[in-house]
Amino acid sequence: MMRKENMVILKKSPIAQDTIEMVLENKYISNTAVPGQFLHLQLKGHMLRRPISISQVDEHAETVTILFKVVGSGTKELASYPIGNSIDVLGPSGNGFPLEPKANSTILIIGGGIGVPPLYYLARKLKEQQVNIVSVLGFQTKESVFYEEKFAELGRTIIVTNDGSYGRKGFVTNVLDDVSSIDCYYSCGPLPMLQAITAQMAGKHGYISLEERMGCGVGACFACVIPTDDCGGYKKICKDGPVFPAQEVQL
Ligand code: FES
Repeated sequence: MMRKENMVILKKSPIAQDTIEMVLENKYISNTAVPGQFLHLQLKGHMLRRPISISQVDEHAETVTILFKVVGSGTKELASYPIGNSIDVLGPSGNGFPLEPKANSTILIIGGGIGVPPLYYLARKLKEQQVNIVSVLGFQTKESVFYEEKFAELGRTIIVTNDGSYGRKGFVTNVLDDVSSIDCYYSCGPLPMLQAITAQMAGKHGYISLEERMGCGVGACFACVIPTDDCGGYKKICKDGPVFPAQEVQL
């Protein structure tokens, strides 16, 4: 259950272009968070909390790692906080990825840019269940690549950059045909990427995280409404998601 907690910054490091990894300490959140959930951070000078997904949890050290791109005033503010600073957080928030694989099944992880972090926590949890993991991770350019080694420790990992400056050139969807039979896929990234993936993977069992589309994060702004059928049905990404079965929502 989500709670209002204080989290202390233990570590802060730049790990790619404009991308910061931050380790936060909190006993309750580190012991209850599941992959795909996010933290809702209160930042100085900002009325609305910022949702940032969880990229790793260490229950023993009681830490939660987040990774974010410095793109606007909120993330700039967060990046400026020194080690030892305490942040007011609502968490763990949202509904995460269901973990239902059978032993020895093959799971495909498809991440794009800042959608990659929540998939790392997911991949680690899946690995504990003795499944084969294949990861396809897409980034804009060489300078924006992160976590390649971490994913490679868990299974075959293919890096794709849009400009071809590292790994394969193009989009994650260009290499999906190279990945042989899979039992389930999990994906998170920009909307056009998710649209292309769900079209290409139609008929396959999968889950997608739509966290990129969130606004207020608490069900108040309706910025995150997504249709679920042709008859006016909808769901809120922040309340009902951010993770959905791929077939359940219309992108
Ligand atoms: Fe505001 Fe969902 S993000 S209602």
